[in-house]
Amino acid sequence: MLVHEISQVREHIKEWKKQGLKVGLVPTMGALHNGHKSLIEKSVQTCDKTVVSIFVNPIQFCAGEDLDKYPRTLQEDVKLCENAGVDIVFAPSPKEMYGEGHILSNDFLTYVVPPYFYTDKLCGKSRVGHFDGVCTVVNKLFNIVQPDFAFFGEKDRQQLIIIQKMVRDLNIPVEIVPCPIVREESGLALSSRNKYLSEDDKIHALALSKILFNIKNCYKKGVTDVQALSETAYSFLNEHHSLEYLEFRDENNLEEKQTADESTVVFIALKLNGVRLIDNISLR
Ligand code: PAJ
Repeated sequence: MLVHEISQVREHIKEWKKQGLKVGLVPTMGALHNGHKSLIEKSVQTCDKTVVSIFVNPIQFCAGEDLDKYPRTLQEDVKLCENAGVDIVFAPSPKEMYGEGHILSNDFLTYVVPPYFYTDKLCGKSRVGHFDGVCTVVNKLFNIVQPDFAFFGEKDRQQLIIIQKMVRDLNIPVEIVPCPIVREESGLALSSRNKYLSEDDKIHALALSKILFNIKNCYKKGVTDVQALSETAYSFLNEHHSLEYLEFRDENNLEEKQTADESTVVFIALKLNGVRLIDNISLR
């Protein structure tokens, strides 16, 4: 069932809680694909009721980013959710979430600001304020839906780690369930932003997963020196790629690693014809 208003969601939640039902939440920005679907299916399997939120959150986009052209496919998304057994699709307007004033001047809003140590690196370095916007909207969604479980993809692993930190630090009564990255057969991680890629771009985009798989292979063969592992990336890059970062960090607190081990995650971001793509792999 598609609902647009917070008060409608609250009515259902109240009823479900009275019945002692376990509620799962899958926060998304829509343009749903099989990656989102895997989170939704996990929630439907493990919870009594599932809420999927679809909201292109304006306060997590930086100036000059793709807020206006971000793909919006609500009708198809609702169909996918219905077929997957979702109980509520919550698709609020920006006004419903932030009120009239905040859309234009989102500085007049109480923000949830995660620690700088977690946000000054990787995607946070080029997307200043992004994770403040993410934590703020996810916290609002938690308060609206009051889920027992919330499902997040490892595709956005920095986001996942920051949300786990927020939940711990603020004692939010929800269990965060990490879900593995869903990839195309080619290795390309599914993303709503893949819609921006031409067929040619998609071939060049394979560099991300190839670099990561190759690094993991080398690590499994015994190479642990981060410098040596990083250098293996260059043979996969060409003039189409503009590498933003390739970093080795701890899976729990994002500290930098000099020597790779089982708790290391390799993060990569690059631009391809102006489209920014991210991926990561755990060396475990
Ligand atoms: P969005 O990019 O729509 O992603 C919603 C959820 O789907 C995230 O948890 C993301 O990690 C997961 N996801 C996306 N692609 C995936 C893939 N290929 N495999 C597995 N999971 C995948 O992330 C956001 O929206 C927003 O920042 C949000 C958390 C909703 C806050 O606005």
